[in-house]
Amino acid sequence: MNFKRHLVTSALPYANGPVHIGHLAGCYLPADIYVRYLRLKGEDVKFVCGSDEHGVPITIKAKKEGVSPQQVVDKYHKMMGDSFKEFGISFDIYSRTSSKTHHETASEFFKTLYDKGVFKEEVTEQYFDVSANQFLADRYIIGTCPKCGNDNAYGDQCEKCGSTLNATDLINPRSTLSGEKPIMKETKNWFLPLDTMQGDIEKYIDSHKEWKSNVFGQCKSWLNAGLQPRAMTRDLDWGVKVPVDGAEGKVLYVWFDAPIGYISATKELTPDWELYWKDKETKLVHFIGKDNIVFHCIIFPAMLMAEGSYILADNVPANEFLNLEGDKISTSRNWAVWLHEYLLEFKDKQDVLRYTLCANAPETKDNDFTWKDFQAKNNNELVAILGNFVNRTLVLTHKYYQGKVPAITEYTKEDTLLLEEITKFPAKIAASIEQYRFREALSELMNLARAGNKYLADNEPWIVIKTDEKRVQTVMSVALQISANLAVLMQPFLPFTAKKLSNMLNLSLDLTWNDALRTNLLSEGHQINTAGLLFEKVEDETVAAQVQKLEDSKKANELNSQSEINTPKSEITFDDFSKMDIRVGTILEAEKVPKADKLLKLLVDTGVDKRTVVSGIAAYYKPEDIIGQQVSILINLAPRKIKGIESKGMILMAENNAGELSFVAPEKSTINNGGEIK
Ligand code: 2FM
Ligand code: ZN
Repeated sequence: MNFKRHLVTSALPYANGPVHIGHLAGCYLPADIYVRYLRLKGEDVKFVCGSDEHGVPITIKAKKEGVSPQQVVDKYHKMMGDSFKEFGISFDIYSRTSSKTHHETASEFFKTLYDKGVFKEEVTEQYFDVSANQFLADRYIIGTCPKCGNDNAYGDQCEKCGSTLNATDLINPRSTLSGEKPIMKETKNWFLPLDTMQGDIEKYIDSHKEWKSNVFGQCKSWLNAGLQPRAMTRDLDWGVKVPVDGAEGKVLYVWFDAPIGYISATKELTPDWELYWKDKETKLVHFIGKDNIVFHCIIFPAMLMAEGSYILADNVPANEFLNLEGDKISTSRNWAVWLHEYLLEFKDKQDVLRYTLCANAPETKDNDFTWKDFQAKNNNELVAILGNFVNRTLVLTHKYYQGKVPAITEYTKEDTLLLEEITKFPAKIAASIEQYRFREALSELMNLARAGNKYLADNEPWIVIKTDEKRVQTVMSVALQISANLAVLMQPFLPFTAKKLSNMLNLSLDLTWNDALRTNLLSEGHQINTAGLLFEKVEDETVAAQVQKLEDSKKANELNSQSEINTPKSEITFDDFSKMDIRVGTILEAEKVPKADKLLKLLVDTGVDKRTVVSGIAAYYKPEDIIGQQVSILINLAPRKIKGIESKGMILMAENNAGELSFVAPEKSTINNGGEIK
């Protein structure tokens, strides 16, 4: 079927961290290539995205950083939007789900289904944290995984063995809010009856056998297992309020509100939004990562079907995951290449990353990004093939013809064949893009540059110039035409380089995809601009520095995870606590204890007296550095003889995960010696 217009979406990323290469390779870069291509074809297309600002990942991040959820989303929404822009991801709008339009749209959508009687109201028992006075959504509850024994599995998933879990599956569940064991408490929620909708959803999926096999296969396996009703509301306070009576303290399930974000963003973008969502002649395509398949292929379509007036996605090209140097990309372990950092370290090299990620995109299976490969792709492909061809062509044009496109004298049979070959590239690349095979499309583009390189190598204009000037005119003219076609066809993949090359060729920026069917984009006598390099070599040291950076973050992580937080000691009474007499003191003298590496002998002014204490801190402090240091000292500990010295009391120290010690001292300098710690 031919469509009149296109609506393209990329998954709304959670606004709880910066964007990394996994995000870019997964669903932003492929969508951008697709959209840029459609625009060049002159199609009517809208490309929408925005930040997903609700859901437990946001509230957990806020707790961790000690700020409000709004502060978290404000910070990351800006950061993510900037990164996308700087990498040339050409959204027509980058919106956010905290916007007023979105709250209204999501709320109305829910209300429509509610009024139609779509939802099943059900009272179920959910975990509840008594001391926090809060129901515990999936990620707020941890416990032991029943499958692999991991002590820190989440209520919805065990990250160690990858199992999908229900909170009630966890052994020894505890709340991440208070650490306490939660109780079961009844609560009412609204469920989308996916079970009764199974037939319609099956029909929809079965009408799309052309979908990528990973996507189609995952949908089929969900359907084969039998769909279950799913709660579309949650007992939380961060999100879109449930707009019906008796739903106080409840918000829409984040996977109900997030995909509606595509609709709200389109509404914010254009008053014609309904054409893009409700007209059968619109082709709707969702670009996502594989963890989002069920939500985009089953749950969101079910919501749209239940509403009744919307079109459904024509395709959902989901990518698999991108790993980094052989390991899963992880925000919490800082195992990632962050876009904002890349931009600082590789200024103006956005296209190199776009190229590497597209050439290596995890289209059919998980793939690995390595810095060595990044270097190889840059040096052996972008520099050696594309850059080299264009540069030789432009430099020779300046050298022989003062930058003017020479006149064609006569084509050889080979020239004619090559020109014919060139006109086939737009269709070949287009066919791959339209089938969401972006790696293949990019490699076709590079084949055009390869053909150009081969043409120069076969015809050796730099040698022939000495004997047959006329022939060189034709050769250089053909090479220039190929460069111009490359400038047009590379636009979806390498938009920054395309601009650079178009400027060098002094080419109109309004050329469309079909202009690349021509082999006369540059007319005789056309003046080109100064030739510059399109790409630069990436040196070994640069790669080594990036690998080192990753190694460092791995080491820091191992250190953090090695020593687990010790389990809490058993409860004591206040009386137990008040038996300890802890005072603020100041170290007056310090010296090493002979034949004891770890010990220092200290003289401490406790306010009450001046006394000697032996302390095991020699590995962390030099005696001369700690004279005058305020400390906390337990003064009523029974004296002990250590290495023959009577030690009276104990200095309190804080210990980090690496076992390093630090004094615990009053934050204000106005606390005098003898001040009580209580
Ligand atoms: O997985 C994620 O990052 C989700 N925030 C994707 C949401 S896509 C859409 F439904 F909005
Ligand atoms: Zn597990």
